[in-house]
Parts: sequence; structure tokens; C-alpha cells
Amino acid sequence: MLKDEQQINKWAKMRFFFYLLFLVLYLIPIAVAFVDGFGNVLQFIRRIVGLTGLTSLFITILLSLMIKESKKIFGINYLKIHHFFAAISLVLISIHPVIVAVNFGTGSVFIPKFDSWNAFLTEGGRFALYLIYFAVIVAILRKNIKKYWKYIHYLLYPAFLLSAIHGILRGSDSDNRIMFSQIIIMVAIIIIIFFYKRYQNIKKASE
Ligand code: HEM
Ligand code: HEM
Repeated sequence: MLKDEQQINKWAKMRFFFYLLFLVLYLIPIAVAFVDGFGNVLQFIRRIVGLTGLTSLFITILLSLMIKESKKIFGINYLKIHHFFAAISLVLISIHPVIVAVNFGTGSVFIPKFDSWNAFLTEGGRFALYLIYFAVIVAILRKNIKKYWKYIHYLLYPAFLLSAIHGILRGSDSDNRIMFSQIIIMVAIIIIIFFYKRYQNIKKASE
């Protein structure tokens, strides 16, 4: 077999692997929410959008490992696929608190809590939401903030961690082992990606 053909097969296998992975990552929370059942439709929807929102943030960050290879694996350049999953994340994580506000009948759910560490972390989704909006607005304006925008983009890592902690503490996931495991695995992978990318940057700078 020609070397080129082998390469094309390799990318096709990777594409299949990633599409399957994304499908499984989205199907687990949806299946878990259905299996756990729901007493209240609004609670059911806010749970699904919270969990799939977290999954979308995870995929958006995971894809940043494939900046160069994106075109070969997915057939489109990195920014297009990055924006696609970023947009899905933003829609889901924005719907989630709106449903909470409607359900609880108060807009105060949008105010971050700083009363204690426990309150801050349990309601950490509130603070994470603003961190994410801020990092995304700065990314959109990055041509004007050439020097610092990337550092602000790094805020998306702690925002993900805070959202995951909030999901575990505030949600019903610690009762569900499959969902709890998915969140813990996603958190571990995000921490590894962060340090791996810093290592890559140091290596590049020293070359
Ligand atoms: C929920 C939304 C988003 C998340 C979670 C996210 C996350 C990330 C992460 C983790 C990286 C890798 C950073 C590193 O460690 O080096 C990255 C890279 C990047 N992001 Fe985003 N991002 C989001 C939205 C956006 C938006 C809206 C834009 C532009 C309008 C953008 C533009 C970029 C670009 C250009 C890079 C590549 C930077 C490089 O050259 O290394 N991102 N993103
Ligand atoms: C103003 C912002 C936010 C508010 C008021 C809020 C509120 C809530 C509430 C009340 C719950 C418990 C839901 C239930 O009883 O089923 C919850 C769960 C959850 N939230 Fe948020 N949240 C916010 C932001 C976020 C953000 C940015 C994320 C990021 C993805 C997120 C992800 C989750 C997850 C994964 C759960 C667990 C769902 C479950 O399994 O029960 N939240 N949130």
C-alpha cells in the first residue's frame, strides 16, 4: 500500500474514533437523565443542558490538542470546529441558568456567591458562566488585544473545573456512578491537557 494511502486511512480511523467518542460523551448524560427519571420537566431539562454543556466545553478544549491535524482529521480547519463546539457550549450553558431562574422564580441565581468556599464552589457555575463569557468576548476581539488574549483564554480551564465542581456538588451526579465517573475523567483529562500544552509551549520556545 502506498504511504499516502496509509496516511489517509490513519486520519479516517481517527475521524471515526473522535465522532464515536463525541457521540458517547453526549449520549451518557442524556441516557443517565432518562434512566434517573424526573419529577419536574424543568429540572430534567436544566440537568440535561448542564451536563451536555459541560461535555461540549470538554470537547472544545480537547480539540485544542489537534490544532495542526484538524484539517486532516475532520476536513475543516481548527477554528471552524473550535467555534462550532464553542457555540454549542455557549448555547447550552446559557439556557441552563435561565431554566433555573424560571424554575426558582428569581433572577438572583445569576449573582455569584462569595459567602464561604462551600457556597462559592457549590454555586460555582454562576462565576464560571461570567468567566466563560469574558474569555469568549476577549477571543472575539483578539485582533485588538494581540498580546494578552491567549492568557485570558486560559481562564477557560479554571472555568471548566469550577463548572465541573458545581455540577458534582449541586447536581444529582454523585448518586450516579456513571455520570460521576465521566465528570471525573473529563476533569483529569483537562488538567493533563493544560500542563501538556504548557510543556509544548516551553519546548517550542527553546527550539
Ligand atoms: C466555550 C468557548 C471556548 C472554549 C472552552 C475554548 C477553549 C480553548 C482552549 C482550551 C484553547 C487552547 C489554549 C491553550 O492551552 O493553548 C483554545 C485555543 C484557541 N481558541 Fe478557544 N475556546 C472557546 C472559544 C473560542 C472563541 C469564541 C474563539 C474565537 C473567536 C476562540 C479562539 C481560539 C484560538 C484562535 C485558539 C488557538 C490558540 C493558539 O494558537 O494556540 N476560542 N481555546
Ligand atoms: C448562573 C449560572 C448557573 C446557575 C444558577 C446554575 C444552577 C444550577 C442548579 C440549581 C443545579 C441543580 C440542578 C438540579 O437540581 O438538577 C445545577 C446543576 C448543574 N449545573 Fe449549573 N448553574 C449555573 C451555571 C452552570 C454552568 C456555567 C455550567 C457549565 C457547564 C453548569 C453545569 C451544571 C451541571 C453539570 C449540573 C449537574 C446536573 C445534574 O446532574 O443534576 N452550571 N446548576
